Amino acid sequence: MKDRVKRIFSNLTDNVDAIILMNGEEPNVDLSFFYVTGYESGLFEGCAAILWPDGKSDVISSALEESCAVGGDCQVMVYAKLAQRVQLLKERLRGVRRLGINGAGLSVSNLEEIKRASPGIDAIDISVAIEKTRIVKDDSEVELIRDACKIVSEVADDIPDFLEVEMKEYEAAAELSYKMQKKGASSPSFEPISSFGKNSADPHHSPNATVLRKGDFALFDFGAKYRRYCSDITRTFVAGKVSKRQREMYEAVLEAQATGLATIRAGVNGKDVDAAARSVIDELKGGGTMPHSLGHGLGLSIHDGGRMAPGVDLPLKKNMILTVEPGVYAPGYGGVRIEDVVCVKENGCEILTSASKNLTVI
Ligand code: GLY
Ligand code: MN
Repeated sequence: MKDRVKRIFSNLTDNVDAIILMNGEEPNVDLSFFYVTGYESGLFEGCAAILWPDGKSDVISSALEESCAVGGDCQVMVYAKLAQRVQLLKERLRGVRRLGINGAGLSVSNLEEIKRASPGIDAIDISVAIEKTRIVKDDSEVELIRDACKIVSEVADDIPDFLEVEMKEYEAAAELSYKMQKKGASSPSFEPISSFGKNSADPHHSPNATVLRKGDFALFDFGAKYRRYCSDITRTFVAGKVSKRQREMYEAVLEAQATGLATIRAGVNGKDVDAAARSVIDELKGGGTMPHSLGHGLGLSIHDGGRMAPGVDLPLKKNMILTVEPGVYAPGYGGVRIEDVVCVKENGCEILTSASKNLTVI
């Protein structure tokens, strides 16, 4: 993990003597802590990592997490009581004047504790350097995301086997979670979206007791977490019989996605990929709108930094992992979204999700 720490330092725009990543209680645990330590097991509430320019890291671990913390390449110091944690912070930060903090992941109370332990320290937000580092994956991260994508691809291909008319949205969502975990996911990477009929026009619909009726769209957006890394996929089906309007919406989204995928390669800007795909949706005049970005970074977090969206500058680099998820939504009628995960290559992209995208009638 030393290489990751060194890359964070090389992406800094301000000089700092050291960087601290400090966790509060769930959900205020900074995923960058796991990025630099590589710990696959453990919760690590109340623990901290101090990073040094030579790539070394110290971990201040609670006694509860000690067994998960040892064995890696970090130097581990263990505390049993809060006062000991403050004392360890004080000792390790001795001599540090300029301390980098991850403003995107540090709570105010943890920052106050750091300042109490090290009065007069200059805390500098270096979250941009962390985001810039994490957005380009190393090969081991790509492989973990590939495994997470395999899980959701298999589950997406199973949907026609279990989905039936009269099923409730939350029942279908429960099937998705169960099947992902049966295939090795530690958990869903976010609450699965399962939306039927006009609910599918709401991109982030929360599943409820709505039942699937003939003629409805059935949209599923879900992800698996595997060894801390996320996947994300969306597939849309139709129950019973497909109408002309539904087919036009589906084909437009499929074409928009193909256009976006064909545009992606290192050196292209994410906003131009968004524009290429969005123009296909816009041509479906009166057919609905796309109120979200074309895609987002994916990694330890489901939204892992970076967006392909109008006006967002994102020069694509080799080994960035992004979703490509165009959609079209007609309020009161329904919506279609198709989402895959890609890894950016020099001359194109590799699609890591493999589930069928043929318009499938349930
Ligand atoms: N898959 C959910 C989202 O990207 O917001
Ligand atoms: Mn997504």
